[in-house]
Amino acid sequence: MSQLTEPTPTRQSNSQQPTSQQFSSGTQGQSGGMGGQSRAPTAPVDQLFPTRSYLPEQVRRSSIGVLNQCLADLSAVTMQLKSAHWNVKGQEFYQLHELFEDLIEEFDGYVDDVAERASALGGRPPGTAREVARQTTIPALPPQTVEGVALVGELVDRLAVLDANLYEQLETVTERNDLDTADLLNEISRVVAKSLWFLEAHLQGAPAATGGQSTGLTTSGGATGQLSNSNPSQ
Ligand SMILES: [Fe+2]
Repeated sequence: MSQLTEPTPTRQSNSQQPTSQQFSSGTQGQSGGMGGQSRAPTAPVDQLFPTRSYLPEQVRRSSIGVLNQCLADLSAVTMQLKSAHWNVKGQEFYQLHELFEDLIEEFDGYVDDVAERASALGGRPPGTAREVARQTTIPALPPQTVEGVALVGELVDRLAVLDANLYEQLETVTERNDLDTADLLNEISRVVAKSLWFLEAHLQGAPAATGGQSTGLTTSGGATGQLSNSNPSQ
């Protein structure tokens, strides 16, 4: 399910690595790459920054790839929750508007934690909307869906993908003995699973959504993570 994007395992030569002096004295506004001592610091997305972390470089590269993927997915879902918070309509408006805001506040904190863990390991976390759209495995939220239950169904489908991805990511970092990253992902995984429950509870026992909107649920199976109404374009 997940498409972990690991940094290309090519480390730049020392002559291309930004030095601490370059980071502290680089000229702002230049794109870099021209050489010389005044070159502004740049950071290719696959660059590994030096760190005194006890973790071996291979483990750090692997964890950074996992964390960056998690960050893109978590950011995408958080943005979708914001869209839902702003656009939801119908009789359930107020409680859904509030619930979405509660989830956004919780997820936003973890977005920061995941990005900072990637940076702490020497990585460069994707921080812009374009990078998130390029890297995430979460399908776009159909903008035409605004009715409360239908919108919850769409969000449930996407949280199920995030939940399944986290399970795989947790397995990966645990196998490679990056226990601090595993601890963080484990905590996020529990919160995402709880959030999935909060949303799914609105659908359980309710009549099937109409108008072509998929809830992704059955009475016995729950969410499968398989999207039936997804639009892969962001
Ligand atoms: Fe608000």
